[in-house]
Amino acid sequence: MEILSTSDKDLEWAAASLAAGFIVAFPTETVYGLGGDVFNLSALARIFEAKNRPYFDPLIVHIAEKDAIFRIVDKSALNAVIRERLTVLSERLWPGPLTLILPKRREIPDLATSGLPTVALRFPRHPVAQKLIRLSTGAIAAPSANPFGALSPTRAEHVKAQLGGKVDLIVDGGRTEVGLESTVLDLTQEPPRIVRHGGASREAIEAVIGPVDLASVEPPPESIVSPGQLKSHYAPRTPLVLCKPGELDKLPDNPREGRLYFSPPKNGRTGTPERTRILTETEDMTEAAANFFDMLHELDKLGLAVIRAEEAPRSGLGAAINDRLSRAESV
Ligand code: TXA
Ligand code: MG
Repeated sequence: MEILSTSDKDLEWAAASLAAGFIVAFPTETVYGLGGDVFNLSALARIFEAKNRPYFDPLIVHIAEKDAIFRIVDKSALNAVIRERLTVLSERLWPGPLTLILPKRREIPDLATSGLPTVALRFPRHPVAQKLIRLSTGAIAAPSANPFGALSPTRAEHVKAQLGGKVDLIVDGGRTEVGLESTVLDLTQEPPRIVRHGGASREAIEAVIGPVDLASVEPPPESIVSPGQLKSHYAPRTPLVLCKPGELDKLPDNPREGRLYFSPPKNGRTGTPERTRILTETEDMTEAAANFFDMLHELDKLGLAVIRAEEAPRSGLGAAINDRLSRAESV
């Protein structure tokens, strides 16, 4: 495994490696992805193996130009309403942290979609991701670059620590900007359904296509359509306990406990700085989302007995933060 920079020369090398069937971790605006050419079965198999990811959990295909949409999506299977939604969403919210579920073309390997008739498609806005995709095969399958069920990586160091020996290359593009995975929106449903909360808020999506449904937070196992819905997912190794806003203020400090506040506590007592993180000083939801996995990685490294984490306000990206927190919680 080698760590590359984002220089032209390094990106050309990473792109050529992808095209040749190697697996490469790279930054997107959400989290780091572990990429492989979607048409290369052995690359796909190595992605599942590296992540220890069950084969029933399908991958997201990443493109870097709108002209590539119908290399992946079966246009003939779209009715006029779905086609219109795809058009306006791709105009208004792409490139960006939104993944769309659509009928797949026959050519897309079943391994990428776990045998589903649909495919997840995303056009990331990170310039490094775009360049890498364009310079390679134009269609890169990439799950988040973490072991299945673990915290998602927002820095190259997280990928190295979690998957170092199992990937061929890591492109180090610094810390990711959004910090939470993309929102997954199933356009094959009527109305369209959010199957995973993420970097594109429900409000932003509804402003473009009108009302959407939400997949229930904890569906019974037989109805799981997206493993991002699994109860235990995105979890640190340290047990995590979720707290209502204000609840942390009332608890005495404990040297074996870490604290993740949404915003500074009203009583001004945050406990020991080494064991305390505050997602945002100014109630800025974008800042909170960007810090979320990063700060959980930091607290997780301290080897504490427990991490107590405060819920975020529910609106906008707060829905995605609370979703990740509830899945990270130890049951
Ligand atoms: O922000 C992101 O989306 C990152 C970066 C790397 O792009 N990728 C990412 O991929 O989070 P991953 O594999 O960790 O999550 C993909 C999610 C999973 O919850 C998966 O079940 C769902 O998308 N998914 C993929 N294909 C699907 C399909 N055909 N139907 C329903 N859900 C699908
Ligand atoms: Mg993931």
